[in-house]
Amino acid sequence: MVDTYIPFLDLSTRDQGLVAELSEAFARVISRGRFVLGPEVTAFEREFATFCGAREAVGVASGTDALILALRSLGISPGDEVITPALSAPPTAVAVSLAGGRPVFVDIHPETRCIDPDKIEEAIGPRTRFLLVVHLYGRVADMRELARIADEHGLAIVEDCAQAHGARAHGRSAGTWSRAGCYSFYPTKNLGAYGDGGAVITDDTELARRLRRLRDYGRVDRDRLGEIGMNSRLDELQASFLRVKLRRLEEWNRRRRELARRYREGLEGLPLDLPAWDGEEDHCFHLFAIGCDKRDELRLHLEGKGIETAVHYPVPLHLHDPYLEGGRPVFSCPEAERFCARAVSLPLHPSLTDEEQDAVILAVRDFYRRR
Ligand SMILES: Cc1ncc(COP(=O)(O)O)c(C=O)c1O
Repeated sequence: MVDTYIPFLDLSTRDQGLVAELSEAFARVISRGRFVLGPEVTAFEREFATFCGAREAVGVASGTDALILALRSLGISPGDEVITPALSAPPTAVAVSLAGGRPVFVDIHPETRCIDPDKIEEAIGPRTRFLLVVHLYGRVADMRELARIADEHGLAIVEDCAQAHGARAHGRSAGTWSRAGCYSFYPTKNLGAYGDGGAVITDDTELARRLRRLRDYGRVDRDRLGEIGMNSRLDELQASFLRVKLRRLEEWNRRRRELARRYREGLEGLPLDLPAWDGEEDHCFHLFAIGCDKRDELRLHLEGKGIETAVHYPVPLHLHDPYLEGGRPVFSCPEAERFCARAVSLPLHPSLTDEEQDAVILAVRDFYRRR
């Protein structure tokens, strides 16, 4: 009989302590009677931009839309090639395709699990226009080197920061290393709404203006279209909730980092590939993904002890059906494939207690003791 249950993430209990403040925000929005693109969105955009150290933030309907709108606002044309890592959540690739681009998948670096800068140059061709970097699991990619490569080859960088709220490298937030940093506020994220939401941050006020137009059908004013855009607006309720949660983000991220350190100490000496991080802040531990042999057996063992895990991601992007040609892969990304076969994410979220984490550590150690 299992007497512990440690869920991977329990959204039903996570925000109980915020209900009073969220209710206040809810009441404020309802009584104002303005539900799409109003003062809450404007205030959240200002607060989130300040948090990231960017000049502007533009609230949109999801992280996927943030990526599509960023690529469109930077002038992507049909068939333009977008270099992007083979390991990410599927929407990274979907956004490129929906924006009319062709994703060119590049392998990851085994330590950072982000795109490997050394493999980019061989993927650049005459149609390459963008480098879409993903700060995977919350770890900031090697932006100095990536910026150097992009500069040298005239590529525009877009950052997928869907997992990197509050992650910084060399004092700069994820998303401020390029012209457009794209965030998701999907409920499970480090800063999560109670529905879908997203934002693009930028220092370029012209680009922000274009993003605001593109998220709103392409309108230049109430009655006139300037171009064909989308309906992709952050709503007032989600913005008001995000304002409440943004005030806690640093504190939640501090707890995530503390838990990551505890995992690192507790799992030391086991045959596991643990996440690597250098500075205090360059990882915000959206996920604590490890690599190991016998991944499925380890997961079963943990499940038997009441511990839920997840896999991010079982399939690398270049092996998804829409990106095969004649049923065969077009790109060779062995490191991404290797990691997908070995990846397992352990529970890590701000409300995980030390005791719960100790139980996870003990159970993982127990698995290896039996081998
Ligand atoms: C790396 C990455 N990119 C993009 C997205 C897309 O965000 P959304 O679900 O808000 O569209 C996600 C979230 O699922 C993600 O993890």
